Amino acid sequence: MNNPAESEKAEKKGVFKRNLVKMLAVGFIAVMAAPAPPAGAATNAGGKKVLTVFYSRTGNTRDLAGIIQAGVGGDIVELETVDPYPEAYRASTEQAKKELEANYFPPLKNGIESIAQYDVIFVGSPIWWGTFAAPVRGFLAGHDFTGKTVVPFITHEGSGLGKSMADLKALCPGATVLPGLAVRGGRAGSAQNEVAEWLKSIRLGD
Ligand SMILES: Cc1cc2nc3c(=O)[nH]c(=O)nc-3n(C[C@H](O)[C@H](O)[C@H](O)COP(=O)(O)O)c2cc1C
Repeated sequence: MNNPAESEKAEKKGVFKRNLVKMLAVGFIAVMAAPAPPAGAATNAGGKKVLTVFYSRTGNTRDLAGIIQAGVGGDIVELETVDPYPEAYRASTEQAKKELEANYFPPLKNGIESIAQYDVIFVGSPIWWGTFAAPVRGFLAGHDFTGKTVVPFITHEGSGLGKSMADLKALCPGATVLPGLAVRGGRAGSAQNEVAEWLKSIRLGD
């Protein structure tokens, strides 16, 4: 390239390109380095600190929890037991029945240390023998819900909410318990409309 005018143009083009690359790189690093929100600081539009906590053996309650959290914001925690329940349905129902009769709560892998920072706690569970699954009963029994708003959501195969509302009130004395949502297990993943209406009715939508 002998023509100086052309080489000047080419050089300017090169400088422009290098500057553009630099600007993009700086922007990218700024985005990547943005601090993650501190745990427990997530709020919904109403300024309340919200936690969605649930247990799910086969995924239905997990699906419903995801839809609820998308609607209310805040943090979400899936409770997991140290020893998983049997995969076979019959074996799991037998174990669950024994645990319910003995009022036994299985150890959790990831219990929540404190719920102090939350105002509203959505508690999700499959219905087991007409009430909350044992891992969720253990979570409820392990914390003080005084002054909190607690909202149950349930997946089931016919029992609806069962005894869960009454059991929740007994396990969370001093809490305000709002009307729960019950969804058939197979429909949990497509319950967006039901969830939206329910959140509106309890005035907790985002
Ligand atoms: C141990 C056990 C007990 C159950 N008891 C009931 C019950 O009493 N009533 C009912 O409608 N469904 C009952 N079910 C069905 C579950 O509640 C339902 O399939 C639920 O959607 C499973 O949720 P998950 O996929 O989040 O584990 C039971 C299931 C299991 C494994």
